[in-house]
Amino acid sequence: MQEKQAVELSKMAVKAGAAGIIATNTTIDYSLVKNPEAIGGISGAVLKEKAFKIFEAVAKELYGKTILISVGGIDSAEEAYKRIKAGASLVQVLSAIVFHGPTLIRNINIGLIELLKADGYENITEAIGADRK
Ligand SMILES: Cc1cc2nc3c(=O)[nH]c(=O)nc-3n(C[C@H](O)[C@H](O)[C@H](O)COP(=O)(O)O)c2cc1C
Repeated sequence: MQEKQAVELSKMAVKAGAAGIIATNTTIDYSLVKNPEAIGGISGAVLKEKAFKIFEAVAKELYGKTILISVGGIDSAEEAYKRIKAGASLVQVLSAIVFHGPTLIRNINIGLIELLKADGYENITEAIGADRK
């Protein structure tokens, strides 16, 4: 899906009453992987850039107008923080837990505290959408 389509669909969903937007999921863009086997949606690190690009396009239009949730290839505190500063009130992590185990969530939380401190924020709410302001 292209950014423009994602933005239009997200805007329509909000207009129709959606309480928030998760604009991406897995992808069927098999160009992202070597030797693809067309057996379903691709998740994880390979879709990090694509998911962020779509999230950012949606956030440019809808940040402040609804709750935005970012998902796709999030595997570190740095990536979670990038999505939060781009406008995500929530982030979702799935595939990375398979590779890093459940302690990943604790490590992301610890890392987020460090990143917030380094930027002088007292709480995470202050960082949401910081790059949109
Ligand atoms: C095994 C598996 C099952 C999934 N099941 C669902 C589902 O039932 N509903 C849904 O909206 N997304 C589902 N997803 C997509 C994830 O919610 C998520 O959008 C996607 O995996 C990208 O995030 P990730 O890169 O952190 O895995 C599934 C993904 C995987 C890998």
